[in-house]
Amino acid sequence: MKGLLITFEGTEGSGKSTQISLLANRLREMGRIVRTLREPGGTPIGEEIRHTLKHSQNNQAMSSEAELLLMNASRAQLVREVIRPALAAGEIILCDRFYDSTTAYQGYGRQLDLHMVDLIISAAVGETRPDLTLLLLVTTEMSEQRRLARQSTLPFMRDRMEEADRAFFERVQQGYTEIAQAHPNRVRSLDASGSVDLVRDSIWKCVVPLLEAPPAA
Ligand code: TMP
Repeated sequence: MKGLLITFEGTEGSGKSTQISLLANRLREMGRIVRTLREPGGTPIGEEIRHTLKHSQNNQAMSSEAELLLMNASRAQLVREVIRPALAAGEIILCDRFYDSTTAYQGYGRQLDLHMVDLIISAAVGETRPDLTLLLLVTTEMSEQRRLARQSTLPFMRDRMEEADRAFFERVQQGYTEIAQAHPNRVRSLDASGSVDLVRDSIWKCVVPLLEAPPAA
């Protein structure tokens, strides 16, 4: 059976992790082998990089360019250590963020040159591209509320990525809109402000066509 790479994108608090676990359960019930991953992270090396990017005491002075390269160092490792072998074995991979996050956060959010961002992404992923990207959309206000609520429950987990101002997150949101427009066949934008069940059902409608067996010759 052909492997599939499905990526989930969206701002903080868009409900990606809840939806990933619902979809993973449903696919497993159908007998598919499913692997869930997150970026940055997903390998021992990637998880160390994640810590450096988000929680390390020593990350305050990180430049946007270093951030871009670290995100993609984690990704390069994940693609080679996990994603390519799993796809070759016919697994379905559900990845919480992939390279569209780099375009949205480092390209639009940090305002790095988009051509340079594309080149770095290409070096990290090569030909390994998602079969489907589910972009979960909530308003910047809803995202901010959920982000602040999460911070108040984890007061000791400082997260450098979440320290950016509202204008940054508005640019990220705009970036996602432009990514979806540029890749209409791959990226499906879904309203994620509704109930968990509604979002789950719209995700399922996007995934089913990929699971159907090809017609017999
Ligand atoms: P999260 O796993 O809680 O979503 O945290 C990951 C953070 O890293 C989030 O703020 C988005 C950000 N990020 C980037 O800025 N660029 C990237 O390429 C990726 C994968 C994540």
